[in-house]
Amino acid sequence: SEQRPGTGGLGHGPDWRPVIRPRRLRSTPAMRRLTQQTRLHPAELILPMFVRDSVDEPVPIGSMPGVVQHSLDSFRAELQRAARAGIGGVMLFGVPERKDATGSGATEPQGILNVATRIAVAEVGDALVVQTDLCLDEFTDHGHCGVLDAAGRVDNDASLLRYRDMALAQADAGSALLGLSGMMDGQVRAVRDALDAAGHFDTAILGYAAKYASAFYGPFREAVQSSLQGDRRSYQLDPANRREGAREVLLDVEEGADVVMVKPAMSYLDVLADAAASSPVPVWAYQVSGEYSMVEAAAAHGWIDRERTIDETLLGIRRAGADAVLSYWAIEAAERWARA
Ligand code: PBG
Repeated sequence: SEQRPGTGGLGHGPDWRPVIRPRRLRSTPAMRRLTQQTRLHPAELILPMFVRDSVDEPVPIGSMPGVVQHSLDSFRAELQRAARAGIGGVMLFGVPERKDATGSGATEPQGILNVATRIAVAEVGDALVVQTDLCLDEFTDHGHCGVLDAAGRVDNDASLLRYRDMALAQADAGSALLGLSGMMDGQVRAVRDALDAAGHFDTAILGYAAKYASAFYGPFREAVQSSLQGDRRSYQLDPANRREGAREVLLDVEEGADVVMVKPAMSYLDVLADAAASSPVPVWAYQVSGEYSMVEAAAAHGWIDRERTIDETLLGIRRAGADAVLSYWAIEAAERWARA
């Protein structure tokens, strides 16, 4: 045709030439930078950390290359690095030496998680939000997230009583935000009530609202040396259920959660998008151990570009609606973005 591209309009002229050209906005690095819709920032990253009782040196976690169970010394050093990297916070998990049926170590002031919390608050409490996992599975010898009844089933309401005590121990240790990951019914309300009755009005609650019974937690079980027999399907959500995730988000918000969580992240972006659309409180996502290890393993084989893949996973999770992301790459990503 004689007509110049784009001058004919729709309906006349050479209609094989596109009039609408989305590529214009992809044409140069400057244009792409200007039109980027989702941006990644260190402040929206939270680093999960494992602190182990009675070790002098950090212990590598075989199924999570690059992640360790910290000694108290390596923990202090990593906290300083996290603060320098400008991430938003840390989520602490304890790896106790001794476990028992009720998870006593969770409520003892000298239990490893409570000791680690005090250290973190003293080291970086002004710069980072120091958060703690509130769940019994690291502390119980049967590995379940609650206590068991006589028949060996996870007893919802008896577990709530343990969570209330655990919440007080963590708030006393200075945790700013309690991550309720046990998936017992009514846990947010039960813990909020215990905190308020003790005057801990300012301690925030992160409700693990939509936490699915996921195979992606596999490497984490090694990280905390979980002794779990069986599975968690009687309390964590069925991966098939989208509506149920939305319901749990609503319930946690009603019960007083300050933030709600979707977990895992990458295989649950629909649930995340639902939560982001309906929740009046911030929605976070947990990029869990298996998501980390999967990328690390493929990258170690040279099958994918490690750094591009990491950033793409984080972008996808943010784009789906997460306000912040728990990620084992938090420090590395934050440091790399600062250099870019
Ligand atoms: C339970 C808890 C789990 C994870 C975080 N909190 C394990 C589970 O529910 O089995 C998994 C985190 C990960 O896989 O990175 N306290």
